[in-house]
Amino acid sequence: MNAATPPAPLVDGFDRRITYLRLSVTDRCDLRCTYCMPEAMQFLPRKEVLSLEELHQMALGFIERGITKIRLTGGEPLVRRDVVELVQALGRKLGDGLEELTITTNGTQLAQHAAALADAGVKRVNVSLDTLDRALFEQLSRRDRLQQVLAGIAAAKAVGLDIKINAVALKGLNETELPTLIEWAHGEGHDVTLIEVMPLGEIEGDRVDHYLPLMAVREALEQRWTLTESTHATGGPARYVDVAETGGRLGFITPLTNNFCAGCNRIRVTTTGQLYPCLGGGEMVDLRGALRSEEPEAQLAAALDEAMRIKPERHHFAIAQRGADPAQPRHMSVTGG
Ligand code: 5AD
Ligand code: SF4
Repeated sequence: MNAATPPAPLVDGFDRRITYLRLSVTDRCDLRCTYCMPEAMQFLPRKEVLSLEELHQMALGFIERGITKIRLTGGEPLVRRDVVELVQALGRKLGDGLEELTITTNGTQLAQHAAALADAGVKRVNVSLDTLDRALFEQLSRRDRLQQVLAGIAAAKAVGLDIKINAVALKGLNETELPTLIEWAHGEGHDVTLIEVMPLGEIEGDRVDHYLPLMAVREALEQRWTLTESTHATGGPARYVDVAETGGRLGFITPLTNNFCAGCNRIRVTTTGQLYPCLGGGEMVDLRGALRSEEPEAQLAAALDEAMRIKPERHHFAIAQRGADPAQPRHMSVTGG
């Protein structure tokens, strides 16, 4: 790269500036949330997964092109043994191109890693937690791990990390329990974001059975609390309200009922180096081939240009009919949450 011409920023065909990379570091997980994956989930062969060095090199290439925010996702990122090393390596780019480094975790192993994450420069973590009820947690995740998750959240709080709780809203499952979860999280000083379940990948049941539009949740919460629109934004798709009674902030991610694609600033890369410019689309460019080529820098740059060219205007999720195929065959745990 000629030093006189800085690398071009990433701008897609709809004039959206892409500044946010979600990088999946593993498709594996120690939970088996029923809306996410089947019990007998087939994980990718380890040899196909990018090495720590490849992930790092790739991330540096993205930062060169104007990515300022990186979120490590999975699967469950903390089940990957060398993930803390990656966080440390990327942490060294904070203030030098990278503005924010975050992680999405299910929290089961957060207690062991919270201090290292904070030391590496992570300021915020998203913890996926759908319920505070032990039996329901086990039913939803097929694992009895609520206590570990709560210990992980407490450890993250103790080292000063900001915590956002992400909960998928599920009709007939955690629906009636959401106020308890929100009240608890706000009491602990954590933001909460509710998410509509998305038709990604085969699962054992039918997601339609538990699909809950967030407008209904919001209406129910408004019977109980005073919600006022908030100007808070995190660079993600959530729209926030302030809850007067709890003093906390509540976000809504509504991919099904209120499309937010016009403001999309994101791309996702799987743990095998496939860049999906849209979570809900089939468009893909392979970065692993570029990384493993003779000229990785040039090939990576060309692949990123291609990704900008093919990024679709919007996803076309719908949860309408019973028994319908998922909108995308890829599970969220593959593409990265
Ligand atoms: N729809 C919506 N959210 C999902 N998650 C996993 N699978 C799905 C799905 N099909 C959520 C997890 C976590 C985040 C990374 O994605 O619960 O909060
Ligand atoms: Fe694991 Fe997250 Fe999927 Fe649950 S939703 S199985 S925690 S990847």
